Amino acid sequence: MTKRFRYGTVIIGTGIGFILLFMLNNSMIGSKAEEGEKIDYVIGVSQPNLLEPWQVLMNEDLKKEVEKHDNIRVIYTDAAQSTEQQIEDIQTLKDYGIDLLIVSIDNSSALTPIISEVYKKIPVIVLGRGVEGYNYTLYIGSDHYFIGEMAAEAAISFLGDKEGKIIEIQGLTSAVQAEERSKGFRETIFDLSKHKITDTIAANWQRDKAEDMLKELLQQRSTPPDLIYAHNDAMALGAYKAIESLKLGDIAIIGSDGINKENGGLQLVKEKKINTTFITPTGGKEAVQYAIDILKQKAEIPKKIILRNHKVTAKNVNNYLHEKGEWTIQQLKEDMDLTLGFAQVGNESEFRAANTDSIVAAAEKEGVNLILKNANNNKEKQIEIIRGFIKQGVDVIAFSPKVEDGWEEVLQEAKNAGIPVILSDREIKVKDPLLWTSFIGSDFVEEGRRAARWLVNEHNTVKDKVQIIELEGTGNSAPAIGRKQGFQEVLYDNPNYHIMESLSGDFTFAKGKEMMHKALVRYGREIDVVYAHNDDMAIGAIEAIEEFGLRPGTDIKVISIDATKKAFNALSTGKLNFSVECNPLLGPQLMKAAKDLKIGKEIPMKIITAERTFTQEEAKKEMKKRNY
Ligand code: AHR
Repeated sequence: MTKRFRYGTVIIGTGIGFILLFMLNNSMIGSKAEEGEKIDYVIGVSQPNLLEPWQVLMNEDLKKEVEKHDNIRVIYTDAAQSTEQQIEDIQTLKDYGIDLLIVSIDNSSALTPIISEVYKKIPVIVLGRGVEGYNYTLYIGSDHYFIGEMAAEAAISFLGDKEGKIIEIQGLTSAVQAEERSKGFRETIFDLSKHKITDTIAANWQRDKAEDMLKELLQQRSTPPDLIYAHNDAMALGAYKAIESLKLGDIAIIGSDGINKENGGLQLVKEKKINTTFITPTGGKEAVQYAIDILKQKAEIPKKIILRNHKVTAKNVNNYLHEKGEWTIQQLKEDMDLTLGFAQVGNESEFRAANTDSIVAAAEKEGVNLILKNANNNKEKQIEIIRGFIKQGVDVIAFSPKVEDGWEEVLQEAKNAGIPVILSDREIKVKDPLLWTSFIGSDFVEEGRRAARWLVNEHNTVKDKVQIIELEGTGNSAPAIGRKQGFQEVLYDNPNYHIMESLSGDFTFAKGKEMMHKALVRYGREIDVVYAHNDDMAIGAIEAIEEFGLRPGTDIKVISIDATKKAFNALSTGKLNFSVECNPLLGPQLMKAAKDLKIGKEIPMKIITAERTFTQEEAKKEMKKRNY
């Protein structure tokens, strides 16, 4: 039973590890609860430090949102950049009996075990900076690889064609976000330019450390760099101070965080101390909102909420300083109804049927005027349907793109018409990430990893080489690309598992059966496993295996993705061995996003759905609850 703090907020001392119980009056924790008011939930917040401006802003965002809710109490802890202290803080919060943990992380690998432990007992929201793996309820933060990519593109456009020398100033090297930002930056610089990263400094997110280390480095170099990329604005300011003290003149500096405070990224851009920063929302407000939804056991809680980052330079800094930022990409005026045009990719699978049903039902429930048209797996038709929606002047357009590329033109037309576009289920590749407002769907790469992890961990084989046939989904579609990549990532560490051949089954039953028949004729009993990118192709393969005279699930193991009812039937009869869920029930989140857009709220850049996996045993238990 969770203890109830009637008035108190408990602050766990930094570094001295004792608990100070402050009997604060309500105004300090924002609640207007009367004395003795019952508290419904106690939430613990574990911060790695309150030294970095961004972490301080996160706490402020959290507290601002907490003040709006009378029935919660929050315990804030601050580990002052000590990983050991943060582990202790989390343990103390857990022992207090909190109902939910919100944690922001510096040292991902060190904290993953304790967070996985807590997650077994209560919901965990990981905020801003990630953990390894998926042992948490919800991640809210940025796509740090994307931040690195954007920083590289800004560097390239600044440096032009000449070969530039770049120094990178990293945050805490053991932090996932520093690793991801560096990876995104380096891979993009390497792929798109001739620039060289001549030196790397690890300054632990701190301004003074960055200043001292860069000064020391620059004094050893005969020529200054052309550009500095710092993983946050505090270190970017440190770089500025180092360059200024050495009188090295103008050197371009790129940072990140974009806080609107003294010495914050926005001010630094305004004062021309740095050239570019990226607004990196803390997610504090969303964390409290979702925490309450989770505690109230609301359905459809996503697995990840990826917040959009905004590039800020001298050209647009004033908009953001006065909070009229471009993030309100298209604001819809409050009007009587909301018309959503949805260009559905096709009817190719059970997943698709359930996806369409979910969208129609959610529109009905939410009073959204839905115009849903089906492109029958034809990309040109899909573009034509979207053009029709633009002409019609719908409020929001959503679609499940058949393939990843070829959408620039029609999305630019939608943007010019001031119509926001939401990607449903599948992502696209476009140069300008502002051509679409939000993506709601799955992490296809993780789905592929889950399929392969089951195979290498559960499939006890005596053979020294396991031969696999892969039935791929629609060529160049996000799910086919992601699932292939994720599966291969795991197989890379398990070389005795070998993909004999990959055949495209286009996500359909018929094509899946046809391709499997072809593989059986070619390889026969050499085949040990079939990895199908969706259930429909897996069911087609199962029929082909039976017609060939072999036993699916026994002679040849079968793995699929989607986990629709057809898969459950095949799992329960032993013909399918494992199925990874791809959640088609995107309707509720799509309608919420569309309605938020209507009232001018910024919506997350990506909403990644929560998904499970099913063995034959798990399917038998779950079967009755499945309605698709
Ligand atoms: O985009 C999701 C994929 O598309 C599903 O896995 C498949 O069944 C559908 O065709």
